[in-house]
Amino acid sequence: MVAAKTGNGEAHSSEAFTRLYSPRKIDGSFTGKHIVTVEQFSYLDLQDLFQLALSLRERVRQGDRSLIEIGAGKVMATLFYEASTRTDMSFQAAMHRLGGAVVSTSGGVQFSSVYKGENLADTLRAVGCYADVIVLRHPDVGSSYEAAYYLDKLHTRLDRHPVIVSGGDGIGEHPTQALLDLFTITDYKNGIDNLTVTMVGDLRNGRTVHSLSKLIAQYEAKNVTFCFVSPDILQMPAYIQDFLVQRGYQVHQTSELDEVLATSDVIYWTRVQEERFANPADYEAIRDHFVMTPEVLSRAKSDAILMHPLPRKHEMGTQSDHDVLDEDPRAVYFGQMENGMFVRMALLAKVLGLAGA
Ligand code: NCD
Repeated sequence: MVAAKTGNGEAHSSEAFTRLYSPRKIDGSFTGKHIVTVEQFSYLDLQDLFQLALSLRERVRQGDRSLIEIGAGKVMATLFYEASTRTDMSFQAAMHRLGGAVVSTSGGVQFSSVYKGENLADTLRAVGCYADVIVLRHPDVGSSYEAAYYLDKLHTRLDRHPVIVSGGDGIGEHPTQALLDLFTITDYKNGIDNLTVTMVGDLRNGRTVHSLSKLIAQYEAKNVTFCFVSPDILQMPAYIQDFLVQRGYQVHQTSELDEVLATSDVIYWTRVQEERFANPADYEAIRDHFVMTPEVLSRAKSDAILMHPLPRKHEMGTQSDHDVLDEDPRAVYFGQMENGMFVRMALLAKVLGLAGA
C-alpha cells in the first residue's frame, strides 16, 4: 500500500478509497459516470463505445468540421502527478478535436498548490469547480477512487457534476489504455475470440496489463488463452489471475517466452517500471530479462500483432532494433497509440453526454 502525506502531514492512503467508493456500472449509460476501473464496462457498453470511436475516426479522416460542435462549451482539465506523453496529449487532442477546451496548471502540477502541500481531495475539488471532466494520473493506487469520492461531495453553485477519468493510478489500473488496447486488438484482428494473448515483461507493476486482462474478460471474449510471461518477481498479481480463472479463462504463467511465442496471436510487450523499484539495483538486475528484437519477432506467427503501450526503453533493444521492428507489419504500436485519441474522443463524448457524436 502506498501511503502519502496529506497537506496536514497526516499519513494518508488513497487505497482505502477503493472500499469507500463503489464505481457505478455503465450499464448502457456513460453520462456523468466517473471512470476508475474497467470493471464498470459490459460487452454492450464496449461495443457501443467502439462503434462511436470508429465513426469518430472516420469523421476525422474525412475532415468533418462539424465535429467541433460536439464539445463546444465544455472544459476538460488534465491533472498529471506522473509523467505522460500519450495519455495526456491524446486526451487533450481528443477534447480539442471535439471542439472543447482544455485547462491545466501552467507548467504541470509541480507549479500548482500541490507544491504548497495541498492534498488531492482539495486540489480535485478546485479543479472540479472549473472543469466538466478531469483526467487524473497519480502514483497512488486508489487515487481515482478518492477523486470520485470527493467530486461526488462537491456541490457547485451551478449544480454541475464534474466527472473524473483515471489516466492511471500507480500500479493499479489504467482503464482508458485498456479501452484503446482492446479496440486495437479488435481493429487489427477483426475480433478477439479464439486468440492467444501473451503479455510480457513487468506484469506486477504494469497497470496497463492489469486493466487489459480484466477488460478482455469484461468483453466476454470467447476461448481466449492468456499467457503471462515475466521474471518470477514481476508476475501478474494473483487477484488478476483469479479474476480470469473465475470467469473460465485459461491462464498460463511462465518465465520462458519460447513456450508461448510461436502460438501467440497478440504479443503485448511492456516496459520494466523502473519508477516502481525501491532499490535501483533490483531494477538493473531485471531490466534486460525480456528484450524484443527483430530476431525474437522472427519466431512469432506471421499474422501475430506486436503491441506496446509505450514508452519503450531497454525491453525493445537498441534504436536500430526499433528501426527494424517498426517496419514489420506486425508492429502495431503506432496505430495503437493513434487509436487512443479516437477511443478517448468517444469516451469524452459519452461521459459528458454530448449530442451529435
Ligand atoms: C503506460 C503507463 O503510463 O502506464 N504508458 C501509457 O500510458 N501509454 C505504460 C508505461 O509507462 O510503461
